[in-house]
Parts: sequence; C-alpha cells; structure tokens
Amino acid sequence: MTRLIFLGAPGAGKGTQAQTLAHHRNIPHISTGDILRQAMQRQTPLGVKAQDYVSRGELVPDELVNDLVEERLDEPDVEHGWILDGFPRKVSQASFLDELLQQKHSDRNVRVINLEVPDDVLMARLLGRGRADDNEEVIRRRLEVYREQTAPLIDYYRDRQQLVCVNGNQSLEEVTAELLDVIDS
Ligand code: AP5
Ligand code: MG
Repeated sequence: MTRLIFLGAPGAGKGTQAQTLAHHRNIPHISTGDILRQAMQRQTPLGVKAQDYVSRGELVPDELVNDLVEERLDEPDVEHGWILDGFPRKVSQASFLDELLQQKHSDRNVRVINLEVPDDVLMARLLGRGRADDNEEVIRRRLEVYREQTAPLIDYYRDRQQLVCVNGNQSLEEVTAELLDVIDS
C-alpha cells in the first residue's frame, strides 16, 4: 500500500514526480492545484470561489480544499493507495487529514516526502514553465506563503516520524530513482 504526501515549495517537482510515481504504482495522483485549475477553467462554483486566491498566489480557504480532498478520497480508485500533491499545506489541513484518515483506515501508514530545492532554482523553473500563476510577483508570493504556512509541516511530520527528505535539485530521473528507493524501503 503506497500512501504518499508530496510536500515541497512551488516548483520543487511535486507534480512531475507524483505523476511518474502514480503511473508506476498504478494509483491516483491527487493534486489540489490541478483540481482547482480544472474547476476554474470550467467556471464551476468551486472554480469561481478559488480564482481570486489562486491568481494572487494565496491559499484558498481550508473548507474548499478540505471538502474536495474528502470527496476525492471517497472515490473507489484510492483503494490501493494514493499520492497527495499540494495537500495538506498548512497545519489545520494536516489535522483535518489526520482525522479523515483515522476514520477511513485502520492502517494509517502515510509517508511524507519533502522535496528540497534552493529558491533560485525554484524561481528559474517556474519562470521557465509559464503557468497563469507563474509570473515573478505571484511566484514570490507563493514562495512566501510556502515559508509562512507550509514549511511548518516539515516539523509537524518529522515529529510524527513520517518525514523523508529527498534532494529535488537533481535530474528528473535521479529524483525518481531516489523516490522509488524510498517507497520500496
Ligand atoms: P499548486 O498547483 O500546488 O502549485 P505550487 O505548490 O505552487 O507548485 P507547482 O505546481 O508550481 O510546483 P510543483 O512542485 O508541482 O513542480 P512541478 O513538478 O510542476 O497550487 C497552486 C495554487 O492552488 C496555490 O497557490 C493555491 O492558491 C491553490 N492551492 C492548491 N492546493 C491548495 C491547498 N491545499 N490549500 C489552499 N490552496 C491550495 O515542476 C515545476 C517546473 O520545474 C516544471 O516546468 C518541471 O518540468 C520543472 N522540473 C521539475 N523537476 C525538475 C528537475 N528535477 N529538474 C529540472 N526541472 C524540473
Ligand atoms: Mg504542481
């Protein structure tokens, strides 16, 4: 059973690596960012509510993402595991997830991968990608929000002995190989 949470700053490679590993393990890759972007594109009620926050690089309110994760983890395809990418990203979301998993699973073995990449590399990667929220000003805000609200989760999960740190500043293949080692161990 593979249940993984991908932590890491914007541009750390969460989405890229989560997609590869999910494919490899045949389990769903659940990215709250991707789900929000799809909702914004379709202008669903969720998308309309999220739009303003996402475009400014702010976190959307907990109730929106908590609800969507709860619904997603009720789908039948999560039975053999999952990879969460971009959730939780603050302590309140992590506590919500803890409770949710406690209700759902007797076995709560979830590993948290922290992909470590220096700030200058993150900025260069994101400027090179060019998603709607990838302009310099919004990237700076996303990095600030990460430091203020998400980075505390590193200690949160380290204290619970769930944290594994991986050097994300290597080639895609090298990062994938390290991640496969981790999840097989
Ligand atoms: P989200 O979509 O999660 O964005 P993010 O955290 O800013 O991270 P990115 O998707 O930009 O980076 P990534 O780590 O996935 O890197 P990637 O693999 O793409 O969130 C967007 C917004 O949605 C948030 O700002 C917020 O508003 C909202 N949101 C989402 N979740 C939320 C939540 N839980 N609560 C509240 N709000 C939420 O790689 C980046 C680039 O680098 C790519 O071009 C890639 O090709 C390249 N790259 C990757 N790895 C390597 C490598 N090893 N070498 C060279 N290039 C690489
Ligand atoms: Mg991503």
